[in-house]
Amino acid sequence: MQIKLLPLQTHGDERGSLIALEQDKNIPFEIKRVYYLFNTGSNVRRGFHAHKNLTQVVIAVRGSCRFLLDDGKEKITLLLDNPAQGLLIDSCIWREMYDFSEDCVLMVLANHLYDESDYLRNYDEFLNLYGK
Ligand code: TYD
Repeated sequence: MQIKLLPLQTHGDERGSLIALEQDKNIPFEIKRVYYLFNTGSNVRRGFHAHKNLTQVVIAVRGSCRFLLDDGKEKITLLLDNPAQGLLIDSCIWREMYDFSEDCVLMVLANHLYDESDYLRNYDEFLNLYGK
């Protein structure tokens, strides 16, 4: 599956912690867009889409949430709960997010601007295109 967990170097001292995100360095693409999800209800499940051509890095900068990731061949779930870890999700991966902690802030870096025509929001269509 075209996903990877990226360890992000933390600069910490007695004052606290700092993480820098730099395009083409610890973030492996040109950063065109940043958005973040917050105030998500704990019983909300969202996402339910794949992208035809978009690479993203997702970071739980605060709190936690779970991901279901599906490349049409296998499904995996993982907990994102560490601000020093980036989840790299390539194109053509179906994703759903759930079990948001009350304080969860999920920051997403993307290599393209928002483009609704890049979304696949129908799971059957996704499977027809990318399933086994
Ligand atoms: P949506 O795609 O429904 O969120 P998700 O699928 O991750 O649960 O996005 C919610 C709204 O925000 C929708 O009206 C589109 C808008 N939006 C933007 O305008 N720009 C963006 O970069 C993103 C990700 C969403």
